[in-house]
Amino acid sequence: MTAGAHGVVCRSHLFAPGSNERVLGKVFDAGADAVVLDLEDAVAPDAKIDARRLVAAALATRVHLASPRVAVRINGVDTALWRDDLEAVVRPGLHLIRVPKAESADQLRAVDEVLTRLEAARRLPAGAIGLVATIETAAGVMAAADLARAPRIQAFTFGAADFVRDIGADPASADLATLYARQHLVLVSRAARIEPPVAPVYTQVKDLDGLRRTTAEARAIGFFGRSCIHPSQIAVVNEAFTPGPEEVAAARAVLDAWKDSLARGIGAFARTDGQFVDEAVARRARAVIALADALEKGPIDG
Ligand code: GLV
Ligand code: MG
Repeated sequence: MTAGAHGVVCRSHLFAPGSNERVLGKVFDAGADAVVLDLEDAVAPDAKIDARRLVAAALATRVHLASPRVAVRINGVDTALWRDDLEAVVRPGLHLIRVPKAESADQLRAVDEVLTRLEAARRLPAGAIGLVATIETAAGVMAAADLARAPRIQAFTFGAADFVRDIGADPASADLATLYARQHLVLVSRAARIEPPVAPVYTQVKDLDGLRRTTAEARAIGFFGRSCIHPSQIAVVNEAFTPGPEEVAAARAVLDAWKDSLARGIGAFARTDGQFVDEAVARRARAVIALADALEKGPIDG
């Protein structure tokens, strides 16, 4: 649980195919905390060049706007496309680059070098554009600790569809097949003091109950935020990462009881309902309240 990089809390990250002008025209107003304009797998090979132009035009409408956060998913660093992708989209209005199929810190350093050059050439603030690395292969999971210390890295996302294919697992058992990798990303992120990882898309667009259940599970194991592939998923994802009134009230009650107990010189106690309270429990209650407060304020640029 976190207030997010640079004080920005992003629960929902809505994808838009970079080749679809109609969707690009409305993605920013769908209610997502962040949008991801895609140049990679949602764009057919023949449409790659066109998509760059359309995404650049969409970014031109976002200059000086802090919300929603705008990311572009470039093509993989092992393709011939990613450098020209960056040439096209590093411009005002862009906040983040998502690097798919990330497998080594060297790849992120290569992206960082191009970003540094383009920021200078285009008079953008140095280092303003952050990196989000998508881990979606076994090699990516194994390299995650290195990737987490690469320049500009803010968070990981997890790409479940590609990962399941990469390890030869059955998509019908994706939850089980990905659990270890997902937990690994939570630990690596925390150890490197980057943001918690962002959960993968839920591909059954009509199954909002399944989306709700799996998003709650993702939050429960330490993820924060989820990628969405349809606007109908945004409200469910936002709600799943927003502390509800009961959760906030319970956190406040814990803190009140904790303050009273400290005032009486007692450092740990059991409440009448049997809930044990100590500094660790109080710390979690403070995090819930900080998140609720940050969400109330809304995204701020920083
Ligand atoms: C997303 O990129 C995925 O592979 O699931
Ligand atoms: Mg993928």
